[in-house]
Amino acid sequence: MKKEFILALDQGTTSSRAILFNKKGEIENIAQKEFTQLFPQSGWVEHDAQEIWSSQLSVLTEVIAKANIKLDAIKAIGITNQRETTVIWNRKTGEPIHNAIVWQDRRTAAYCQSIVEKGLAKTIQEKTGLLIDAYFSASKINWILKHVKGARKLAEKGELAFGTIDSWLVYNLTDGNKHITDVTNASRTLLFNIHTLAWDEELLDIFDIPASMLPTVCDSSEVYGETSTTLGARPIPIAGIAGDQQAALFGQLCTQKGMVKNTYGTGCFLLMNIGKKPVISTHKLVTTIAWKIGKEVNYALEGSIFIGGAVVQWLRDELGIIKKASDIEQLAMSVESTDGVYLVPAFSGLGAPHWNPDARGTLLGLSRGSNDAHIARAALESIAYQTYDILKAMELDSQSKIRELRVDGGATQNSFLMQFQADILKTNVIRPAITETTAMGAAFLAGLAVGFWEDIDQLQSLWQEERTFVADKKKKYQPQLKAWKRATDTVKFWADYK
Ligand code: G3P
Repeated sequence: MKKEFILALDQGTTSSRAILFNKKGEIENIAQKEFTQLFPQSGWVEHDAQEIWSSQLSVLTEVIAKANIKLDAIKAIGITNQRETTVIWNRKTGEPIHNAIVWQDRRTAAYCQSIVEKGLAKTIQEKTGLLIDAYFSASKINWILKHVKGARKLAEKGELAFGTIDSWLVYNLTDGNKHITDVTNASRTLLFNIHTLAWDEELLDIFDIPASMLPTVCDSSEVYGETSTTLGARPIPIAGIAGDQQAALFGQLCTQKGMVKNTYGTGCFLLMNIGKKPVISTHKLVTTIAWKIGKEVNYALEGSIFIGGAVVQWLRDELGIIKKASDIEQLAMSVESTDGVYLVPAFSGLGAPHWNPDARGTLLGLSRGSNDAHIARAALESIAYQTYDILKAMELDSQSKIRELRVDGGATQNSFLMQFQADILKTNVIRPAITETTAMGAAFLAGLAVGFWEDIDQLQSLWQEERTFVADKKKKYQPQLKAWKRATDTVKFWADYK
């Protein structure tokens, strides 16, 4: 029988990837390419949108060549992407009018503060589920319209298009024919009403953005169009789109209310499926759309940690106490505890549930005998403690107890960290066999739309666990958790002390 595939395009913050999945949900082949990170000023982060497109196109071509398959073996393309990153291009030329402003970019922090000071936070949170922050797209669009000469005039004439990276990729894949996005990406802009599922005029007014710039919002799983024949003789349906964290939630098959995943990457992103009705957080989490398939919308609560695996890179590159990231596990396990050392890795502020942009990294509890192993262990534990804080906030917001945590991302290979996570949460941590869950989620969404897979029940049978870290219910962590809370309180106190 002829082999058939779904192609997932995973456009992340540091690299573009293309992954082919077969009917069993297994990876047939992968291609990956890093691209340039631009830091024009302190706190600014940009990408060249054309380089994003060319790197994505090159991995698409490469993976097909590596797998040695014909284009007609690819039944559909699913797209998943770094979210919030903002591209504005000219509809006539197809050229971006500025570099993409990346989600990490803080240049609009003061502008966002001015919106908070106008007393608009509550209205905005009720409509969008989000907090007013430079992280999301709206203030980035506003900045480009203000700072690129002639941009506002062109926008008002309807000649500019805004898109998150998914829109930009679809626009290019279809040779400029489609200007679309999906509900998950739209829900990260601060312009989209997550109840009515439409762009919101009041929000567009607040951020001073012409409606004509916005893409049409689609479901996460439907045939949006086909690739242009300039890319290859046979057009391929583009049939799934989701922001990368939502795609990972779907790829982990967290399809029931109450299920949670954590992606342990450079930062960590926790999402909890909260079912068909949005819950607006009272514990500083954001509410977001998990996906829309057919008429059914699923919502999620989300908390993000800015420094997760990046703390290990810091130990390697800045302190030099390990040679490679994987060395940390052995070093951390060479001592029985941190001996009272706590590291709060707030190198770029604290994310959820604290949201303190001025917080900075702090090492507490050092004694004369503290050594590199204690610090390494404290660094790993800080990833688990930050995850703990978010999960507790999720439990309070959702008024439910978390039953298990599904995990993915590079740091999940660290079994010490996974076990410690399970033990402090008193919840089992489950590592799946295929940890490429982000791409898998995008492939699943596209595959469902074209009938490659029948339904979610069939997808459930493709998801397999590799290992469960069973929580040790006897070990008590109350003193450590209290000390961690004191440590984060100290960091916040220091940040607020001017
Ligand atoms: O919200 C930002 C997030 O989507 C970025 O994910 O995996 O590209 O770092 P990643």
